[in-house]
Amino acid sequence: MALTIGVDIGGTKIAAGVVDEDGHIVEHLLRPTPATDPERVAESIAEAVAELSEGREIEAVGLGAAGFVDETCSVVRFSPNLAWREEPLQKKVSALVGLPVVVENDANAMAWGEARFGAGRGESHLVCVTVGTGIGGGIVLDGALFRGRWGMGAELGHMQVVPEGRLCGCGNLGCWEQYASGNALVAEAKKIAEADPGRATILLELAGGTPEGIEGKTVTEAARRGDEAALAAFSSMADWLAQGLCDLTAILDPGCFVLGGGVSTAADLWIDQVRAAFAANVTGRGHRPLPEIRLAELGASAGLVGAADLARIR
Ligand code: BGC
Ligand code: NA
Ligand code: ZN
Repeated sequence: MALTIGVDIGGTKIAAGVVDEDGHIVEHLLRPTPATDPERVAESIAEAVAELSEGREIEAVGLGAAGFVDETCSVVRFSPNLAWREEPLQKKVSALVGLPVVVENDANAMAWGEARFGAGRGESHLVCVTVGTGIGGGIVLDGALFRGRWGMGAELGHMQVVPEGRLCGCGNLGCWEQYASGNALVAEAKKIAEADPGRATILLELAGGTPEGIEGKTVTEAARRGDEAALAAFSSMADWLAQGLCDLTAILDPGCFVLGGGVSTAADLWIDQVRAAFAANVTGRGHRPLPEIRLAELGASAGLVGAADLARIR
């Protein structure tokens, strides 16, 4: 059976796996992303590939990278949250591993993984939104991955939702990922805890007493314990998510949305509100079939499974 390797390169970790034709992971490994040095990142990917290739015949390698990937699937032109600028990732990694390599945007890879083997199986039109450090997007239309003219389509996190809003890693103001991501959740919780500490007693206690100590985990835990500020932060994130899904529906009319990324591990805290706000606000409501809003099925592996499959197809 033909095997390929998929690698998902995120801000904090590199997840790599050997994947078969049916999307099953044969072997898998996880390691930290070496800080901000692109050379070290390429080497680290190559090491993971070498380790996984041992004793196996591997056809090709697919890399899912959190950034704007060019139309030839080789260069990461820009990354808002990582150090890549015109990074020739395909060239570097293929030289190190001696195998064909394709690079794809991480969220595109995830969308493809979910469309082929996960929550989007059988859907011809789906939009995948990853809610993590930033917001990633992947669009499958008529069964094909949509990449845009120059490979940089589906950068959904950078739709401007607030004119003159919060500064984004991409350099613009008011991008969706500044309001509906994991980072946004933390920023909102900090803001409330600063302005109104009486509403954030559990949150502040978990954070060691000061708003600076608040992290994603703290907000989740505080929300589960009924902290008002933490719940308000989740609620704000859910409303902003729903708002974006409404806009995407107006443009793309998908059959379903698949939501994934780190923040979806706490989806029970926000998914109902997203579904309700979406149904209440989407244009044409009452006169259109509503796209289902589903959670990703492949979890943290969706990106690597999708990248591995894309490497096989290309
Ligand atoms: C980047 C995307 C990426 C997403 C999720 C965004 O900030 O622009 O390229 O897919 O984060 O990692
Ligand atoms: Na994308
Ligand atoms: Zn942006």
